[in-house]
Amino acid sequence: MCTWKLSARLSGVKVCGLILVILALHGTADVMESPNNRNAYVDFVLNPNSSASVLQGFKKRSTTAVVYICFNRTALIEPALESVLRSEDLHKFDFIISQDGGSAAPLNPKVPNNTNYVYIHHKENLNTGIQDFFVKQLAFEVLGYESLIVIEEDVVIHPQAIQMLKFMLDMSIDDLEIGLVSIIDVDNSFFIDMGRYNSSVHRVAITEGHLWMYGIHATRYRAVREHLLEYTGIIRHEDFESLHKDTVAARIRAMHKRKGIPLNIALSQDGNLIFSLRLEGFDRRLNTVARFYRPLGYWGVHFRDDKESFFGRFGTEMFGGRVQLPPKETTCEDMVDMAETCRARLDELFMRHLGRHPDEKARNFAVSRLLGGNMNGVVLTSCVTRTAKRRTPECREMYWV
Ligand SMILES: *[C@@H]1O[C@H](CO)[C@@H](O)[C@H](O)[C@H]1NC(C)=O
Ligand SMILES: *[C@@H]1O[C@H](CO)[C@@H](O)[C@H](O)[C@H]1NC(C)=O
Ligand SMILES: *[C@@H]1O[C@H](CO)[C@@H](O)[C@H](O)[C@H]1NC(C)=O
Ligand SMILES: *[C@@H]1O[C@H](CO)[C@@H](O)[C@H](O)[C@H]1NC(C)=O
Repeated sequence: MCTWKLSARLSGVKVCGLILVILALHGTADVMESPNNRNAYVDFVLNPNSSASVLQGFKKRSTTAVVYICFNRTALIEPALESVLRSEDLHKFDFIISQDGGSAAPLNPKVPNNTNYVYIHHKENLNTGIQDFFVKQLAFEVLGYESLIVIEEDVVIHPQAIQMLKFMLDMSIDDLEIGLVSIIDVDNSFFIDMGRYNSSVHRVAITEGHLWMYGIHATRYRAVREHLLEYTGIIRHEDFESLHKDTVAARIRAMHKRKGIPLNIALSQDGNLIFSLRLEGFDRRLNTVARFYRPLGYWGVHFRDDKESFFGRFGTEMFGGRVQLPPKETTCEDMVDMAETCRARLDELFMRHLGRHPDEKARNFAVSRLLGGNMNGVVLTSCVTRTAKRRTPECREMYWV
């Protein structure tokens, strides 16, 4: 009816054009309808030509995207997402929630109404590695952000954690040694004067630490894009479990071997990202000195630990106070001072629990690990405080306790 009325007022040629436009729009809608089969859905969301259709009309407003990635551990997602939503200045960024599909209960995020955001709940189960690449490709190729801050499902974050990472991104944009910026994954607060260094950041080997919350520039993504695509190609039509099965693992290792990546690394997408950045010359990361999240994920895709061993390793606390931003990188003088504090606190700990001073080797191990970014203060403390019988080989090998 409507078409007829229109056509009555239009010339034949125009009507023909109009019909073609309608057909074309109709055709586009068909193409953009996301497929129901898992592998087809994966292909659909990993193709930058079609993946924008999961954005439901979302428009970019900021140059930095903050993405919360999650799946189905509702008991962890609730407090984690709540903490993200309580972040200071969240509205200055664009906020994306990407929730994997499958057995995940949908979320009902109470996003402040001044915040530009989109909630993507995938129709099918992508799995961790695929979702991770999807998010980067969406942010950098489809939406064109300059930088991306990623928060994983199972961390409760400090209200200033996002701001902290944003400052760290800004300070490292032209620093071609730095591949990414991250919140430290371990709690070393016992060995550091946090009254003085809570806003400090530290330049460490890019391979040190998990990517539970991190930031990365578009330029770094572009530098490693081909590596990420190759890895994604291997796991594309596999489920996550098969990462640890022989055929998929063997293909990932063969790729690592060909590229000269060490063969004993984790086969995860994060391992691949970190070592790809290193291959392209980004040897370092900026890491915070204080920990700005509490990890919750004692049960998950990577850790099948009991609660006790997870928290025994990573601790349960984060930095409690406010931080004076902007952050500053530790200077040589800072490091000399930090080494001194670390020695003094180790001494105190040894005296209290073992009734003796640590030997020189234990002191040096602790200091060089702290400054090198591979100290785990929670583990070191428990090495000293537990009975000799219960000390693990790590206590001796890493900390000389
Ligand atoms: C996306 O579209 C462009 C232009 O039509 C095409 O050249 C490119 O191959 C497409 N990319 C993919 C991954 O299909
Ligand atoms: C979450 O997904 C995993 C893997 O698909 C499944 O084994 C588990 O039962 C799911 N958990 C919940 C709470 O749905
Ligand atoms: C946004 O939220 C505030 C406080 O919750 C409320 O006062 C305001 O009316 C809301 N604005 C819009 C446009 O919904
Ligand atoms: C954090 O550091 C600032 C100095 O940079 C200090 O004034 C403040 O007291 C510290 N906060 C805490 C809780 O340690």
